[in-house]
Amino acid sequence: MIVFKRVSELQSYLQTQQKSDSKIGFIPTMGALHNGHISLISKAKEEGILAVCSIFVNPAQFNDKKDFEKYPSTVAEDIVLLDAAKCDILFLPSVHEIYPKGEDDAKSYDFGFLETVYEGAKRPGHFKGVGKVVALLLQIIQPDVLYMGSKDYQQCMVVKNLCLQMGLSERIRFETCPTKREADGLAMSSRNRRLSDSERSIAAIIYQCLISIQNKATSGMSFRIVEKECTELMCAKGIKPEYVGIAHADSLEPLADFDPAVKMVVLIAAWVGDVRLIDNMILN
Ligand code: PAF
Repeated sequence: MIVFKRVSELQSYLQTQQKSDSKIGFIPTMGALHNGHISLISKAKEEGILAVCSIFVNPAQFNDKKDFEKYPSTVAEDIVLLDAAKCDILFLPSVHEIYPKGEDDAKSYDFGFLETVYEGAKRPGHFKGVGKVVALLLQIIQPDVLYMGSKDYQQCMVVKNLCLQMGLSERIRFETCPTKREADGLAMSSRNRRLSDSERSIAAIIYQCLISIQNKATSGMSFRIVEKECTELMCAKGIKPEYVGIAHADSLEPLADFDPAVKMVVLIAAWVGDVRLIDNMILN
């Protein structure tokens, strides 16, 4: 694996690859890699595509400064994992390399409704920050395929919308890969590293709630009751839910109740200690 820290060096290397007709696959990350990220690298490699992974903890997307400061950084371990997964290129830029004139100077995109619900509502400015960095990374790397994990369901929608606004939807194939889970169902996340043993032991309740909502969605029970049951279960176990919602899977328009006629997604955000976790499941 070749590691680049400079935009100019990465770009000259990628240009030579493009001349030899290699397809470029891009896997944007903030590091603290786990098997979910590695599955995205593996997907690119299976497809015979040059895998370019970026590790950049983007200050612009943290609405909470403390969250940014506590975000895990494990670059040496990440490099070992990426090497083992046969990742071709790691882009490891500094903040100055990405935002030479400061993050406020970077172009900001408007994601409309998507910025007002669920993650958008609870983390003001978060998707603006994601939009800024992903736009810059796409301009630098100019990938043919973009690989992202569906644990961040709303983020995938935001990035698809970004590609549309940038006029890249036709040029870039967007690959959403399934959420990787631990044996007890907990969605793999870089933030899981910050859970204490006791917090880790209860965190899978979020997944159990998703399963229970999926089962009950088809049984005719009202969503209000299921939502209340899940909220009570999480609270009883010491987890603080921020939202438990069902939405139209293609628009994220919140739904008041199960509607078998529409494709639905259930979305949960919850605090386990001081770690905020999100997860989701398509219901039908
Ligand atoms: O999902 C993430 O790790 C980040 O939001 C991303 C897409 C790398 C942008 O910083």
